[in-house]
Amino acid sequence: MRTKINEIQMVYTDEGDGIPLVFLHGFPLTRNTWSKQVEAFKSSYRVIAPDLRGLGETEATPGPVPMSRFAEDLNALLHHLGTGPVILVGHSMGGYVALAFAKAFPKALRALVLVGTKAGADSPEGAAARRVLADKVRAGGTSVVVEAMAPKMLSATQTDGAMSASVREFMATASPEGVVSALLGMAERPDAGSWLGKIRVRTLVIAGADDKIIPPSESETLMLGIPSAQLKIIPRAGHLVAFEQSHAFNDALREWLAWGSSSRYNPMGEQKV
Ligand code: MLT
Repeated sequence: MRTKINEIQMVYTDEGDGIPLVFLHGFPLTRNTWSKQVEAFKSSYRVIAPDLRGLGETEATPGPVPMSRFAEDLNALLHHLGTGPVILVGHSMGGYVALAFAKAFPKALRALVLVGTKAGADSPEGAAARRVLADKVRAGGTSVVVEAMAPKMLSATQTDGAMSASVREFMATASPEGVVSALLGMAERPDAGSWLGKIRVRTLVIAGADDKIIPPSESETLMLGIPSAQLKIIPRAGHLVAFEQSHAFNDALREWLAWGSSSRYNPMGEQKV
């Protein structure tokens, strides 16, 4: 489906009925990385997965896209769809956006799931490297990013060639302009660590045990910083944990969601997930 949001054409998946369960993809990926979650959860939830600005099929805009801008796009989309508060799942860059959303729109959240992501900002060297990469994409297209990132998306022991091919397909849809904008936006993102303690919704943190892009130690830091957070490490999974080990990921998410709707411990008051 597509609609005009904040002056851009935004493309998104919206399937099923019930409590809204929203999935935000990482960089330089698309909503299609969540296809196995859409199939698994649409019989019980309203599953929404947008392509973030400039990635997948959603229109790009020039200049850096700060994480707060992606969060505003999401907020506008959710208003357009009339969802009310959502359970928000963000992977990697989608996790940076989920944290920005939690800060800017706390009342729009029922619960938070942070997957293969982290709270910290880029180091000065890391931010400089992103800007160099952005220059290379401007000069020669997105293949430099695909070649650097595709081999690290799955665990080093993964031998499924079709899965690796899918990862490259996800990345192939990103436009150079969108990739540059997201790289520059990530380079300038603020450190979220100082306000993790203010997150009041139930939070699940999930990491792939073999994630070489954002190691599981970053997930432990998130879990320790967020008051109601639980941590789940999925074995034999790399950075794209929800795609690579979808059954284990879906089981972990389903179990945590079920616990949220039955538990007496409910920091969200009446809003059970
Ligand atoms: C992602 O998967 O979204 C990126 O690896 C995040 C990043 O580069 O920091």
